[in-house]
Amino acid sequence: MASPAKFRVAAIGVGRQGKVHALNFAFSTPKADLVAVVDPNEAAQDWARANLPAATKVFGGVEELYAHFGCQRGAPPGSAGLDAACISTETSYHAALCVQAIDFGLHVLLEKPVSIDIEGHVQVVEAAKRRPDVRVLVALSRRFDPTYRNARQRVKAGQMGDVHLIRSATVDQYDDRGWFVPYSLKSGGIFVDCAIHDIDIARWFLGLSNAQGEVPRSRPYRVTASGYNARHPELAQYGDADNALGTVLLEDGRSFYFHLGRTAVHGHECVAEIYGTQGRLVVNANPRLDRLDILDSHGVRSESTPSYWERFKDAFVVEAREFVDCCLDPSLPLPVTLEDAFEAARIATALTISLRSGQPVYFDDKGDPIRPKGWDGTSCKIPSKDDGYVNTAKL
Ligand SMILES: NC(=O)c1ccc[n+]([C@@H]2O[C@H](COP(=O)([O-])OP(=O)(O)OC[C@H]3O[C@@H](n4cnc5c(N)ncnc54)[C@H](O)[C@@H]3O)[C@@H](O)[C@H]2O)c1
Repeated sequence: MASPAKFRVAAIGVGRQGKVHALNFAFSTPKADLVAVVDPNEAAQDWARANLPAATKVFGGVEELYAHFGCQRGAPPGSAGLDAACISTETSYHAALCVQAIDFGLHVLLEKPVSIDIEGHVQVVEAAKRRPDVRVLVALSRRFDPTYRNARQRVKAGQMGDVHLIRSATVDQYDDRGWFVPYSLKSGGIFVDCAIHDIDIARWFLGLSNAQGEVPRSRPYRVTASGYNARHPELAQYGDADNALGTVLLEDGRSFYFHLGRTAVHGHECVAEIYGTQGRLVVNANPRLDRLDILDSHGVRSESTPSYWERFKDAFVVEAREFVDCCLDPSLPLPVTLEDAFEAARIATALTISLRSGQPVYFDDKGDPIRPKGWDGTSCKIPSKDDGYVNTAKL
């Protein structure tokens, strides 16, 4: 008997994160084939030729991809030589590429965040509404991690009682090449780029998610943010910080807060604490790489996860497989909805405004952040290690 046809995926953007997706679709997702890779960067193309199956086509732009596979605007899913696109370019290109892929009738696995701004988000949400036959999954990777899922199951089953506070942190190991300085312009800044994970899981644990028929318990009321450039004062000119703190107060009085950093010396760390009336859960209390204890002249120690790729290696595989399953069976609920990603983005945007303006930010009746009175939208107050005073540079 002939084996069933494989689900045909193209990876658009194979930089740091796109490589992980490309490898997973090529070698760890049994129901899928990685049929193509697109990246204008020659080094990325060379990597693809050297590391992916020989049958995987390599293109420099999406126009070549769509022409090669005979994709047509408005065509039903599966009618061309391609079923899905996995988009992992820099964030500033996500929205346009995603809208285009949706219009071509492709299912989309879209790296987080959906866009660097609310406008891009709205375009993706509208495009997805026009094409209910297409599935769009936002790759908020913590949702696919077994430990976070275990915590969520316990919260959902009521084991922690009434959950009222989430504390979390996302801290990257410092890279002295300072790659995240130019990256800031295309990433939306530390709250949009990194905190989107913390915001998403806090909403998930606090029951704010409207996915899978749940009724959101509350809405955000006010956010406050602050930042400090411990290593890279030049980030302030982009309205960004290499360390930041955010708090989110909900209308019902519950709250969540988090610390973000790009300057840790020990490795990558992400921790989440869930406080309820019947107990407390801690995810990733210790960012250890494995179960090895090293007892030597330094004492007793273990190695830490160098980056989130080691920490979430398995989650990325689950993400790819569940994406394919949801596309093959439209009755399956998406593990992350565009609506959830959108709500998280509105909070991340509010935090960015608070970071730059130095003021608390509230939300209007639609849930959009309100620009603080008296702030011109461009002045930026982020202190740096070299200043000793508040930086008031114009963006
Ligand atoms: N889920 C996670 O935990 C996680 C982790 C890291 C990064 N990300 C996200 O992944 C995305 C990529 O981040 P990165 O660190 O890999 O960036 P990167 O700069 O390393 O890679 C981006 C790649 O996209 C390519 N590209 C740019 N425009 C393109 C286009 N029009 N068509 C095809 N390719 C194009 C670039 O040449 C580059 O190779 C970002 O949105 C980031 O937020 C998510």
